[in-house]
Amino acid sequence: MDERKKVIFSGIQPSGNLTIGNYLGALKNWVKLQDEYDCYFCVVDLHAITVRQTPADLRKRTLEVLAIYIGAGIDPEKNTLFIQSHVPAHSECSWLLGCNTYMGELSRMTQYKDKSQKFGDSIGSALFNYPVLMASDILLYNTDLVPVGKDQKQHLELTRDIANRFNNTYSETFKIPEPYIPKAGAKIMSLQEPEKKMSKSDENPNSYILIMDPPDVIRKKVSRAVTDTVGKINYSDEQPGIKNLINILSSIKGITPEEITADYSDKGYAQLKSDVAETIIEELSPLQEKIKNLLADKNYLESIYKTGAEKANYTANKILRKVQKKIGLVPR
Ligand code: TYM
Repeated sequence: MDERKKVIFSGIQPSGNLTIGNYLGALKNWVKLQDEYDCYFCVVDLHAITVRQTPADLRKRTLEVLAIYIGAGIDPEKNTLFIQSHVPAHSECSWLLGCNTYMGELSRMTQYKDKSQKFGDSIGSALFNYPVLMASDILLYNTDLVPVGKDQKQHLELTRDIANRFNNTYSETFKIPEPYIPKAGAKIMSLQEPEKKMSKSDENPNSYILIMDPPDVIRKKVSRAVTDTVGKINYSDEQPGIKNLINILSSIKGITPEEITADYSDKGYAQLKSDVAETIIEELSPLQEKIKNLLADKNYLESIYKTGAEKANYTANKILRKVQKKIGLVPR
């Protein structure tokens, strides 16, 4: 008989153009897991506005991220694809969970600490509360598994703490979600400063490869990637630039770093870089084609996000009502 599938929830912010970090850390795994799970994939626009966005760009990028989900191979017939702000339960639940979250917990989030260093006193309060909204996203769907890159692990742990606390205070309500973090693509690093995560908001475009970068740009960026003076291809923390290139290759090809270093024992950095560039191009070219076609069909994208929002609203509202009732809010 049709046993009920376990649930996956994940999302990406439309706060910039997506990079191969987003693809290898998250999206590629969503594609792999979609048949086994009941999946909710969300474009988290409310998270993106924790940093000021130009309205027209935000609208454009939100649709681009949706097109990238589909172009990367997420089947919109089988999965629920939607835009976060189209499901008001996320914001509502975020308030309720915020009433059960400590300042201490939120101040310990490394992503917040990094951002507050950058913005100082004028850091927005939403950046502080950001992980509570993320917890709402996840908990509103009785999520079992959250496929994300390593940088989101701490937010996942907080989500689990918030859920456990709520369950202990008000009786069993939320399912406790597990993270799913890939081995090879968990943390793709900047090509220019390989000690730093590759990020779509980096000021230096040579530090990242975008999913939509054309082949010649990919070749140029990879050839300029910072390496070292060791001159031998090892998978080692002492050679973070080379290690990052090996991780990219390993993640796309599905082979281990050890197999790669064995393959390259008598080859140089130039060869590795050229192979990495061609591997990325081969992986992304078919996606880029599909994404471009999807973006030309706004009506189709609209039909996907509208259908998705309907389904997501239905599921999320059921859990939200339960939460409101347990807290003692008078039923409407
Ligand atoms: P965001 O938009 O920063 O990134 C989206 C996904 O990409 C992963 N990722 C990376 N993985 C490997 N290497 C990198 N350099 C790299 N950069 C980004 C992230 O880990 C993430 O999986 N808070 C989340 C969005 C979010 C969310 C959620 C995720 C909101 N609600 C609920 C899961 C469940 C974020 O900022 O991701």
